Amino acid sequence: MARYTVTSALPYANGPIHFGHVAGAYLPADIFVRTLRMKGEEVLFVCGTDEHGVAITLRAEEQGLAYDEYVARWRQEHLETFRSLGIEFDVWSGTSVCPDHTATAQGFFTELDHGGYLIRRESEQLYCTHDEKFLADRYVMGTCYVCGHEQARGDECPSCGTWIQPLKLGSPRCKICSNEPERRKTTHWYLDLPKLRDEYIGEWIEDHQWKPNVSAFIKNMLADVPERAITRDMDWGVPLPEGVEGREGKVLYVWFDAPIGYISFTKELMARRGEGPDAWEKWWKGDTRLVHFIGKDNIPFHCMVFPAMLYGTHQDYVLPWAVPANEFYNLEEGKFSTSEGRTIDPKTFFETYDRESVRWYITTTLPETADAEFSLSGLVTTHNADLAGNIGNLVSRVLKFIAKNYDGRVPDLFEEHRAEMDAEILEHCGLIADPAEAVLAFQFRSAARIVTANASVANLFMQRLEPWSLRKTDPERAASALNTLCQYLGWLARWMAPFLPEKAGQLWAMLGMQDEVTGRAWPGLPQAADWRFLEPGHRLGTPAALFPRLEAPPE
Ligand code: 2FM
Ligand code: ZN
Repeated sequence: MARYTVTSALPYANGPIHFGHVAGAYLPADIFVRTLRMKGEEVLFVCGTDEHGVAITLRAEEQGLAYDEYVARWRQEHLETFRSLGIEFDVWSGTSVCPDHTATAQGFFTELDHGGYLIRRESEQLYCTHDEKFLADRYVMGTCYVCGHEQARGDECPSCGTWIQPLKLGSPRCKICSNEPERRKTTHWYLDLPKLRDEYIGEWIEDHQWKPNVSAFIKNMLADVPERAITRDMDWGVPLPEGVEGREGKVLYVWFDAPIGYISFTKELMARRGEGPDAWEKWWKGDTRLVHFIGKDNIPFHCMVFPAMLYGTHQDYVLPWAVPANEFYNLEEGKFSTSEGRTIDPKTFFETYDRESVRWYITTTLPETADAEFSLSGLVTTHNADLAGNIGNLVSRVLKFIAKNYDGRVPDLFEEHRAEMDAEILEHCGLIADPAEAVLAFQFRSAARIVTANASVANLFMQRLEPWSLRKTDPERAASALNTLCQYLGWLARWMAPFLPEKAGQLWAMLGMQDEVTGRAWPGLPQAADWRFLEPGHRLGTPAALFPRLEAPPE
């Protein structure tokens, strides 16, 4: 038994969740967590919105909304999107509302400062005398000094991708009032990443087992690690701790406070559950496996900066055990145009497509090792092949035949046929793999393929034994074969559960089971000695089409 603390990247509270995000950080995490739970592991699944930073304040201002009102809308909207996909976190909070967040983030600042990992430095920054504020990040626009693009932002040039130093921008102007800002001195705190790297984190990164697509990336970064400013001149964010000289008008940089949200949300949940004040520690200190599900753009922060912060507090935090970062997941070009009314806003999309088909298709196309693409035709083809054709067809043939010819009860298993049936389904029809093993190795596409292959085993079994014909020539063998298929469907339902939770539950109910399909231990691979769990005569539920076929999408 092990304990797992699983996080999904905190989505920004400033725009919709797309399938690209879902594939990167949320669906694989949900499948992982569901699998662990069925295997009886102790798991905590944490997420919530990332609510600070300039990307948020600018959008709220554009829309004329108060910051807290603006982020609250997205916090709720994101939660509904995740629910519509069957993605269920243990805690869903937000960095501006979690009651433990300010103190936890300030604690990190203080502990890093005590450890000698923060550098306080005065520098010149752009200041708008009209709006009376320093222009952090995207509050300043100007001409890119690398490519000449005139709409470069203070953090990045959208044209050439350069990481911009705002003081070097040509013709700088304030994003709010368009006036030219002046230079003023201000103080900021920098995280001494070179020191943290040299003291411990560099060695830890070198020695850690990373996913191959993460490994090269992170090791290349080690050579050139900058000191990073972790404060900003703004009022929306976590204020610097009381007592810090010069703290007025400054907040922690959004990327500093966001990952700390994983910890503060854990504290919030434990308090809500009425557990003691130290209950959160078992999820962050000592014996737990910390797993961060993220998209590849978040690799530097989760593989270097946040681990450096955790280590630098010297508070015994665990460092990540695994960071199964995914590559990018794109939408098939041109197929999803808002103006043509064919969007993939999950809300409207699920009026046409079942969420379980979407979960399944995304799982089979996850960008695990390279960028991948979502296409509507792929969704339909995969649904029709794997779900309707393979699993759905199997379930309906078996259960409808039994409903009609065996009074809807599990047919008898005749002792003289038991060994033959066990050998057929468990050995001769190709059953070889347990999908959970692939899930635990973060190979979700392969895990889904194993579930499909395991369903094919039963289809092959039917082809070889033809119970419908046997029923006329050898009724005892036919009954034994159908008994075997019922048992096998019970295993299939449990193998499906992490990927297709709702459909697995429906199949479980069609087998006449009254409990939850997830309430049973993960089945692993069946062993001949004890794999039959349904008694002959057990009343099955009503068979129904699990996965009706989908029409091809419009061209
Ligand atoms: O890239 C993003 O969407 C960030 N909001 C992810 C933050 S993850 C964690 F650090 F909170
Ligand atoms: Zn201005």
